[in-house]
Amino acid sequence: MLVLGVETTCDETAAAVVRRVSDGPGVILSNVVRAQVEEHAAFGGVVPEIAARAHVEALDGVVEKALADARLGLGELDGVAAAAGPGLVGGVIVGLTAAKALALVAGKPFSAVNHLEAHALTARLTDGIAFPYLLLLASGGHTQLLAVLGVGRYERLGSTVDDALGEAFDKVAKMLGLGYPGGPQVEKRAETGDPARFAFPRPMFGRAEPNFSLSGLKTAVRLEAEQIAPLSDQDVDDLCASFQAAVTDVVANRARAAFRVFGERHGRPSTLVVAGGVAANGAIRQGLTRLAVEMGVRLVAPPLNLCGDNGAMIAWAGAERLALGLSDGLDFAPRPRWPLDMTAAAPGAKA
Ligand code: KG4
Ligand code: ZN
Repeated sequence: MLVLGVETTCDETAAAVVRRVSDGPGVILSNVVRAQVEEHAAFGGVVPEIAARAHVEALDGVVEKALADARLGLGELDGVAAAAGPGLVGGVIVGLTAAKALALVAGKPFSAVNHLEAHALTARLTDGIAFPYLLLLASGGHTQLLAVLGVGRYERLGSTVDDALGEAFDKVAKMLGLGYPGGPQVEKRAETGDPARFAFPRPMFGRAEPNFSLSGLKTAVRLEAEQIAPLSDQDVDDLCASFQAAVTDVVANRARAAFRVFGERHGRPSTLVVAGGVAANGAIRQGLTRLAVEMGVRLVAPPLNLCGDNGAMIAWAGAERLALGLSDGLDFAPRPRWPLDMTAAAPGAKA
């Protein structure tokens, strides 16, 4: 099964073609990502209206290149998928409308994909792992620990009561005068910093429920930075390293709590998966690797180019759904909010 996937929910215009062969891992035939870095740099964050316009300008070329790289014409596809949310509605409309039009013209089935589900299923694209598995989904807008039981079957074990993990990285980067997106900048500065110089809090550490809270940690970094200002380059490096060390401890500890809850409900998971933009962070990957070794489970972390937003994960999620006979009508409306687990009660405002 050959599926074209389109992603426009945030600040990446992306399209890809993926082949799904029965139950094994998928094959990525093309994966084109155009990041809108310069467009938003001056604003220190993604500006929705600018993002939507940039998607309009870039999408045709990105889709054409994805098909050309895969050496395929529209007619050779078995389906077209697009992320229909959650995300910035202006961008979602651009990608969703374009994908629907392509499906209509080519006479192919259409799949409206949940962006979070696409992150959640990436480990099956790359490694062909079986259900169920324990997933840490950590991006700029979402931080959740989930039991992934099957396609469309997600149970939220815990999430953040305030900031998302990526958001905490972005806010710390902003307060230290580093660029956007903040995660990669903070990680880079942390390489030459001392992770033990500042003893930042580890919020929620040791709690039984696998929830996160990150705003107190972020505030602690701000107060420390204000106290020792003016900041030298080394101060910034040390603040980044100490912040990242606190986050890494918290992530491993919260994932450990999720193992217990997963075990009570579904038996011991054999695989721990990390996905979303924050999964690119080397220190967090190391912390989770140590946890996985200790728990005697396998850790699956996507390659760096599949951690951030991309079209391959959308194409793959579409292929998984289409293979189960699940397709969507061309009247499918964009969903700015679309929780993976519709029934779970969030402990706080943000999913
Ligand atoms: O999944 P993603 O590309 O977009 C969303 O759906 O949000 O995630 C982007 C988030 C941003 O907050 C970014 O700062 C964070 O992932 N991120 C990182 C790293 N690379 C990206 N956070 C920590 N360390 C990184 N290396
Ligand atoms: Zn994402």
